[in-house]
Amino acid sequence: MAQKRTLIVGNWKMNFTMQEASLYLHHLSETVKMHQNMDVVVAPAIFTLQSLSLQVNRRQLKLAAQNFYWRDMGSFTGEVSIAQLRGIVDYGIVGHSERRYVFHETDKDIRAKVQAALRSGIKPILCVGETIAEKTHGETKAVLDDQLVGGLANVTSEEIKDCVIAYEPVWAIGTGESAMPDDVAYAVKIIRNQIKELYGAKAANAIRVIYGGSVNQFSAADYLKIDGIDGLMLGKASLEAEAFSAIIEKAHEIKK
Ligand code: PGA
Repeated sequence: MAQKRTLIVGNWKMNFTMQEASLYLHHLSETVKMHQNMDVVVAPAIFTLQSLSLQVNRRQLKLAAQNFYWRDMGSFTGEVSIAQLRGIVDYGIVGHSERRYVFHETDKDIRAKVQAALRSGIKPILCVGETIAEKTHGETKAVLDDQLVGGLANVTSEEIKDCVIAYEPVWAIGTGESAMPDDVAYAVKIIRNQIKELYGAKAANAIRVIYGGSVNQFSAADYLKIDGIDGLMLGKASLEAEAFSAIIEKAHEIKK
């Protein structure tokens, strides 16, 4: 099997004005080296995507949508479809816990978004993860299985190779509280087993599974070394070009 490309995603959330985003990317393009075996992706606010797409060298850096609506076009005031972002983004984040819990997105919405992204030739990054209450009650496996089955319900065995799964325990996102590598290893096993059940062993090995939740430049290596982890999703640490670059270099070193 061809070697998997390590994936580092910076989720900027609701940060940076247009000017700040552009300056940041300019700075980043000067510091980040191009690595053959890596995909470095940032997910800026939606209103900056068009302009940033003209600025970035896509061989060095790719763009992701943080969110989008699942219909391709129509009368949906205030929404942006992933079809409208074709040619601008390569990835789309789906099912982030902030979407699930702040904006009450359901598995049905998430499944429709996964489908919409694939329909537009954009790779969905499906986020899954348990809350602290679910973890305490020993429900991690049940939650991950449900979210995977729910989110991937209409994905064919041909399409699964274009999906990425991000394990993001809800309690570790934006809290500074980080998951123990053993817990992440356990979750990754659950995820790959579920993919194996749904799509077979080959797909389970081939799919990229990344980790996210309060990762910083000091903890990144511990997660990247976990068996079955193919990359990271970074929130806070991606807002600082130096920290983000340092993590990219670390990932390159560990995964090369
Ligand atoms: P964080 O965010 O690194 O700030 O915890 C991660 C995420 O939201 O994916």
